[in-house]
Amino acid sequence: MPGIVVIGTQWGDEGKGKIIDYLSKDADAVVRFQGGNNAGHTVVTKEHKFQFHLIPSGILNPDIINVIGNGVVIDLEELVNEIDDLHSKKITTSNLKISPNSHLVMPYHRILDEARENLLGNMKIGTTKRGIGPSYSDKASRSGIRMQDLLNVKIFKKKLEFVLKEKNAILTKIYNLPPLDFNDMLEKFKYLSKKIGDYVLDTSKLINDALDEGKKVIFEGAQGTFLDIDYGTYPFVTSSSTVAASACIGSGIGPTRIDKIIGVTKAYTTRVGQGPLPTEIKGKLGTMLREKGSEYGATTGRPRRCGWLDTVLLKYASRINSITFLALTKLDVLSFLNSIKICNSYSYNDNYYKELPYNQNIFSEVSPLYKKFSGWEEEISEVRNFNDLPKEAKKYIRRIEDEVKVPIRLVSVGPERDQMIKFEESIW
Ligand code: IMP
Repeated sequence: MPGIVVIGTQWGDEGKGKIIDYLSKDADAVVRFQGGNNAGHTVVTKEHKFQFHLIPSGILNPDIINVIGNGVVIDLEELVNEIDDLHSKKITTSNLKISPNSHLVMPYHRILDEARENLLGNMKIGTTKRGIGPSYSDKASRSGIRMQDLLNVKIFKKKLEFVLKEKNAILTKIYNLPPLDFNDMLEKFKYLSKKIGDYVLDTSKLINDALDEGKKVIFEGAQGTFLDIDYGTYPFVTSSSTVAASACIGSGIGPTRIDKIIGVTKAYTTRVGQGPLPTEIKGKLGTMLREKGSEYGATTGRPRRCGWLDTVLLKYASRINSITFLALTKLDVLSFLNSIKICNSYSYNDNYYKELPYNQNIFSEVSPLYKKFSGWEEEISEVRNFNDLPKEAKKYIRRIEDEVKVPIRLVSVGPERDQMIKFEESIW
């Protein structure tokens, strides 16, 4: 019953999509378990370029079951757009399954997300403005609308009537915005629900049955450990649990169903939005790294802040997620540098930290302490074996393993599917 969880060890955008795509060659199912269309990844095939925000990465393979689990919040318009886009390219979505317990991101969630960010001014989180926080807030406060509510117009109508009254009061009285029209929204969702109803079934049972039958299931994390609502750099986080344990809650399986946890880490660090990033590189070098790595958000197009690899963070991510092994991505991006740094500790007020300080105020102020390495300054995108890497690149990889005490088993050296160095034939 192999269940593998793939999560991000940084602030998202680690290249999880590529690792999942690589693993899904041999998979029977791919399950999204948290987040919403704040996530985004690009899949490039010979014929097309796809941007997925909600649909799991295995969708292009008709033999793979793709599940949107109960932990995901779904913007129905976005999902229908993604489905329509696939159909227009003659790709079936009959292999897509949606949990009836997943919550909806409603139009008022998007508006409230943006309004709140505007109100916060320079205290803003820097959200993707996709309504993610307001949707999870409603879930927790028990006023959310779920996918299963859509399947019964009477129930949907009743819930919407109640919620919209409250939301319109907030929109008009607090944010000075126009109210939303109940009938318009009802009609729109009646239309959308017709397009989506057939995909809804008991996904928890489906996944557990698949595992019972010995099928291979990938649990696909979105965002990364430091955007986790509990373990990330709160309040500069997303509103869901992004860590490995969330795979269970967000898809309806027990913890013993998971065999391996793969932590995906970029060979350097990036972050979109506000919040601390101790190893951030400012100035020309930071800009060069952003350009070399094409570090612009797949969802919002915002430029990502770039910094050196931080193994204090990686050690923490390894602990919180019980990572089995790491997949290192975008190593090739560093090839232009003649010297490279790894941060392995921090200092603050004459104190020295080898572990992440739990006090966020301290973490926001720490100075990173670095180990410096010579760069390799040669192309590595054609390398497929660890032994063929330049000695400086090998040293860089080994040092990360030594610092984090977790092996690296996959190294990605380019965006294409085959640009991968693997350390064993199959990681299943
Ligand atoms: P939200 O998830 O839209 O509420 O945004 C909260 C924070 O998470 C912001 O800093 C976003 O930039 C960040 N964020 C959300 N989703 C992603 C992602 O998929 N990649 C990187 N950052 C993300």
